[in-house]
Amino acid sequence: MLRPLDSGLLVVIEGIDGSGKSTLTRQLAEKLEHAGDCVVLSREPTQGPYGRRLRDSATTGRLPPTEELELFVADRREHVEGLILPSLKEGKLVILDRYYFSTAAYQGARGLDWRRILDENEQFAPDPDLTIFLDLSVEESLKRVCERGDFANSFEQAEALERVRAIYHSLLARRPGTVWFDARELADRVLERAFRVVVEVRSGRAPRNCALTGATEKN
Ligand code: TMP
Repeated sequence: MLRPLDSGLLVVIEGIDGSGKSTLTRQLAEKLEHAGDCVVLSREPTQGPYGRRLRDSATTGRLPPTEELELFVADRREHVEGLILPSLKEGKLVILDRYYFSTAAYQGARGLDWRRILDENEQFAPDPDLTIFLDLSVEESLKRVCERGDFANSFEQAEALERVRAIYHSLLARRPGTVWFDARELADRVLERAFRVVVEVRSGRAPRNCALTGATEKN
């Protein structure tokens, strides 16, 4: 869904499990806020009722693919209406840990048509201005997931993750506004590069600053 040119900026971080998305999303938000941006940080699945059901299902038993897809889409509709669009309208910089590319990749990996998933989501969810894809091999992903003490739950099986990564590659390879980072790089370097890319994109379409914080443009 296209947005007016004077709205805020939507930045999305994507990648398979263990790719460092959540750390990058948090640190990037802090760094941008420190630089004077008015940042809204959020993630999908959300903490709302649909999101909680989805998170529970990862350990209590995964739902059938179409039912799972419906819940992810319902969760996103609420997220878009309740937080993403209002924040963008206020000129804020919205940073998301996962968005509809995750649905295309993960639910696509369960056998659903990822192109249709993408189409359906693009009807109601605003296009990101920038998508940062943290690419990582499945082997490394599973190693990291085990190291951080998480059990490889049903979302995190090797074969499924290979399919997820393959779909990410297909859908993001030539997509405008996407940058790929090697997730094996040092976290500090990834953060620095991500910060510079956001600043560059923002300078092409500067979001209004948040009056409450009195922030000013730094670039
Ligand atoms: P997280 O590990 O980033 O918190 O995400 C939880 C899991 O949810 C992760 O394994 C990916 C999965 N997921 C989907 O399957 N479809 C989606 O649309 C989203 C947003 C996440």
